Amino acid sequence: MDEPEVNDELIKDSREGELKNLLYLKDLNKDEIIQLLDQSDHFLKSNQSHEFGDFLKNQSIASLFFEPSTRTSASFQVATKRLGAETIVIDEKTSSATKGESVLDTIKNLEAMGVKGFIIRTGDKNLFASLIDNIGPNTSLISAGEASISHPTQGLLDLLTIRQQKKGSFDNLKVVIMGDISHSRVARSLTEGLNILNTGNITLISPEEFKPNLKNFPNADFEKDPNKGLSDADVIVTLRVQKERIESSENNLSLDQYSKIYQLSQDKLELCKSDAIVMHPGPMNRGVEISNEVADGRQSVILKQVENGVAVRMAVLTKILKQ
Ligand code: CP
Repeated sequence: MDEPEVNDELIKDSREGELKNLLYLKDLNKDEIIQLLDQSDHFLKSNQSHEFGDFLKNQSIASLFFEPSTRTSASFQVATKRLGAETIVIDEKTSSATKGESVLDTIKNLEAMGVKGFIIRTGDKNLFASLIDNIGPNTSLISAGEASISHPTQGLLDLLTIRQQKKGSFDNLKVVIMGDISHSRVARSLTEGLNILNTGNITLISPEEFKPNLKNFPNADFEKDPNKGLSDADVIVTLRVQKERIESSENNLSLDQYSKIYQLSQDKLELCKSDAIVMHPGPMNRGVEISNEVADGRQSVILKQVENGVAVRMAVLTKILKQ
């Protein structure tokens, strides 16, 4: 399967001075990312919900997920509620999409009801490009995951988690991403963000079968051997094998074979620095890419990532939709 390219024209057009849409982290500059992380930290520290409970008062935000989700979908809904807005969930299986209505027509109908924010997850690498020039001038698109290309709010919550745990600059950090890199929008967005924050060393570890097109991972080193790649890591992000994106003809790797070499087990974790943190975007396939012991161990910050996801999505919704 060809790895999808980011459409550079789309990146340019998706910015209109202010942050109107959020499709790719590479659209943002360092100051904008730091501002979003600071705002997320503020939301996490503040239990004064009256401070922000009316940021998006009376707004309706549409949630359109064309691929399954637990964390992203739920955390956008929690974030929306905490900001005083409501979520309109459009379910592909019960909406008029089943009668042939296009996504653009769905958006136009919701725009007519006053909806300005659209949170969209899609496996279609052409969907955002087809929408961006046709939505209303006051309408914003927020990507909740686009094919194998982009997952910007996941990238932000990963950056926030690293910044909280490693306190200080990214310059001296070694961040390892291990697993099915070639199908991973999480790896793409995190690498975009890590580059913007000048991370010292980004290392990708995978078997040849999951080696990505390195053009999509600027400044990242590639290593097939975990025993070499994990050495001295400060942060290790493990990734699920995305069976749903693998064509049967493409890959003969058995999961047993894969997990023997690439599962993050306690003995592999010991190759990293002693204070390394373990991350995973979820959903985890325990016993495949990560052992139970490591997933639930003292170095795991996996549930902290989930907690941060709500705060990051609150920061993104506020930045884009607060008037
Ligand atoms: N990390 C992530 O995107 O999880 P979901 O697919 O459950 O939203």
